[in-house]
Amino acid sequence: MDLTVAITGASGTIYGYRTLKLLIESGKVETINLIMSGVVPTVAQVELGVNLKNADRAAINKWLGLEPSSKIIRFWRLDNFAARPSSGSYKQAGMIIVPCSMGTVGAIASGAGTNLIHRAADVTLKEGRKLVIVPRETPLSTIHLENLLRLSNAGARILPAAPGFYHRPQSVEDLVDHLCYRILDQFDLPHSKKTQWTGEEAGEDEDG
Ligand SMILES: Cc1cc2nc3c(=O)[nH]c(=O)nc-3n(C[C@H](O)[C@H](O)[C@H](O)COP(=O)(O)O)c2cc1C
Repeated sequence: MDLTVAITGASGTIYGYRTLKLLIESGKVETINLIMSGVVPTVAQVELGVNLKNADRAAINKWLGLEPSSKIIRFWRLDNFAARPSSGSYKQAGMIIVPCSMGTVGAIASGAGTNLIHRAADVTLKEGRKLVIVPRETPLSTIHLENLLRLSNAGARILPAAPGFYHRPQSVEDLVDHLCYRILDQFDLPHSKKTQWTGEEAGEDEDG
């Protein structure tokens, strides 16, 4: 399976990082076309203390703990409209934008995108492929909500960065991964099943 993953400048670079790690660990993804918006290095520095400024594929491989020679990640520049995800004739399963800023939500919803993330999302929708958007903002204005509704009506799957607590997370990592598992579920990709609700968690059933 080939996928495109975009990381934008919303809070929660960790969601993007863990999604990439879990996609790789699933063993089912051959190629990840990775695109990062221009604000990501700033957010990654603030939130993770990671330097992604001027990152190339080698730097991304290092960040993800991959061998320098690994080719699973194809890292595309934001202004490269000739990149593979820019064309509908490049066959892939879909695209994940995690986390997704309200700026990117608005650009895609308006159809007037200006960078490769917007273009790739536009292409994913027009080709009827799966577009999973993980928005992060709070509170949400009417403009944000209307843009998200527009994207949902156009076929995007809106999966807010709002992790659940029913699996009794013990760490920030547990919370983050819980959300990322739900992202993988959208593509039927395998992951740890430990956060799947079985119906047994709330105690005995009516039969005792
Ligand atoms: C540390 C930091 C956190 C941010 N958090 C959010 C956020 O949670 N949601 C959001 O919509 N924008 C957030 N922003 C603002 C976006 O980065 C900004 O609107 C930017 O223009 C988005 O561009 P992009 O969509 O191309 O990444 C944050 C910015 C910084 C520096």
